[in-house]
Amino acid sequence: MAILKIARMGHPVLRRVADPVADPRAPEIRRLVADMVDTLEDIGGAGLAAPQVHVPLRVVIFRVRAERVTGDPEDVVLPMQALVNPAIEPLGEEKNLRWEGCLSVPGLRGAVPRWRRLRYRGLDLDGNPVERVVAAYHAGLVQHEFDHLDGILYPARMTDFSLFGFNEEIAKYPPEVEAVR
Ligand code: NI
Repeated sequence: MAILKIARMGHPVLRRVADPVADPRAPEIRRLVADMVDTLEDIGGAGLAAPQVHVPLRVVIFRVRAERVTGDPEDVVLPMQALVNPAIEPLGEEKNLRWEGCLSVPGLRGAVPRWRRLRYRGLDLDGNPVERVVAAYHAGLVQHEFDHLDGILYPARMTDFSLFGFNEEIAKYPPEVEAVR
């Protein structure tokens, strides 16, 4: 168990497409996930992808806290979860504008359009398939985390750079837009 160093925007590990995991039950994957959980608990974020700790593999961890969900019945609360080789299938055409930050882009936040509702699939650490239909905050969070596995940071998904700035300034001068937290 260890607290790992976070890669920051500009590091090539955040730009490349991560490799699929051959065996989600491998001890080194379990060890990686344990270290990622330690790291995320230490920093206090909602999710972390393996490339963010300099490991180019398709592994993410995330949790959906009760205080973050929107009340949408498909915005499901979830304890810390590891997902290997995940994939997303958007359901419907609707997008939400969502405020996001990222441990690899420290101090900043931006409003990012994300699919409102989607199905995601992946494998847990026992190799069992996981499949969920989710919406709203939960859906936005997994889109952010899974994007890391394809070398995409949230600024690359933004469509309006007037809605990009330092945390303190945006908290002080909230832009008047219809965006979820
Ligand atoms: Ni991130």
